[in-house]
Amino acid sequence: MGIGSRIAGVGSFVPPRVYENKDLEEMLDTSHEWIIQRTGIERRHWVDPKTSTSDLALEASLKAIKNAGLEKSDIDMIILATLSPDHDFPGTGCFLQAKLDLPTITVLDIRQQCTGFIYGISVADKFVKSGSHKNILVVGAEVHSKGLDKTPRGRGVSVLFGDGAGAVIVSQTEVNDPLVDSHILTTHLHADGSFAKELWLPAPGMAFEGNERFSQEIIDEGLHYPQMNGKVVFVHAVKRMAECLTAACKEMGVSFADVDCFLFHQANLRINSKVAEVLGLDESKVFNTIQDYGNTTAATIPLGMDKAIEAGKLKKGDLVASAAFGSGFTWASALWRY
Ligand code: UT7
Repeated sequence: MGIGSRIAGVGSFVPPRVYENKDLEEMLDTSHEWIIQRTGIERRHWVDPKTSTSDLALEASLKAIKNAGLEKSDIDMIILATLSPDHDFPGTGCFLQAKLDLPTITVLDIRQQCTGFIYGISVADKFVKSGSHKNILVVGAEVHSKGLDKTPRGRGVSVLFGDGAGAVIVSQTEVNDPLVDSHILTTHLHADGSFAKELWLPAPGMAFEGNERFSQEIIDEGLHYPQMNGKVVFVHAVKRMAECLTAACKEMGVSFADVDCFLFHQANLRINSKVAEVLGLDESKVFNTIQDYGNTTAATIPLGMDKAIEAGKLKKGDLVASAAFGSGFTWASALWRY
């Protein structure tokens, strides 16, 4: 078949501090029962005040490089996906590059939110197949906790999100037998910007009338906190994830029964159960991590992959099907043999 790309290494990192649902009850006027029933989340990890997104990304990256059996110097490109950057600019990928001490290699930031990691491996796959790069570090990393409204006003969103990072190395490989050899089979990427304001962070930004990107009004209205129309997002997430997963499998002539592990984005346990129900998937093959980490956006899928391997639910040679949905709206799917 020729030159392809494969996921050659995986790593993840979550900050040590755990917040159980009950730890949020008073702060957010919520309850463990509400959170568990509506989302499946039991706890999430939140950083200490000194930690940034690139700090989490660094830890996950070093683990992924080691897991791939590579040296840092073998990495020739960094792709970093996050919606919670260290700073507005430059991209967090540049801060990670400096922390990894890998000057001059290509760095690309991806802004596709929960779908960012699948966009990232898709771009990496294409760069590797083009022959221009050989070992690409693809990272999803998020520090949500510092950007959430931690008052009862924000409870509809703030209970959902956790901090963390996941990373993989996408490396060049020779694919002789697609049924056996480790490689990325396909990726499907989509977006519909007409729903951009159903899940977004309005401020700060240049779209506000006036000469300043920040104002007292923005702070008073809480526009610097994420806003979400949860029900609309839920319905679209189920529909689009099912749709793009089906399309990827169809394109590759793979049946759902052929898939060994489904790694879905983790926004709500009910979303993933619904996708499994709609598609008739064997739910025991759907690996969920939301219980322990909440929604870690771009970090979710590589973090999930690492945890699935750790749990013995994903082994070398297994066929993985992944799908994600998030702000944008964006959605994507990917199939790879690990
Ligand atoms: O990764 C990005 C993609 N994000 C998603 O996919 C999220 C998709 N959406 C969801 O997962 C769900 O819509 C949520 C979990 C966010 C919300 O669940 P819901 O069943 O849609 O609840 P709701 O927003 O309609 O709220 C129901 C009730 C409301 O009270 P009333 O009006 O019925 O009296 C809310 O005020 O629950 C109340 N509520 C809460 N109560 C306790 C909302 N948040 C909370 C909370 N604790 N944290």
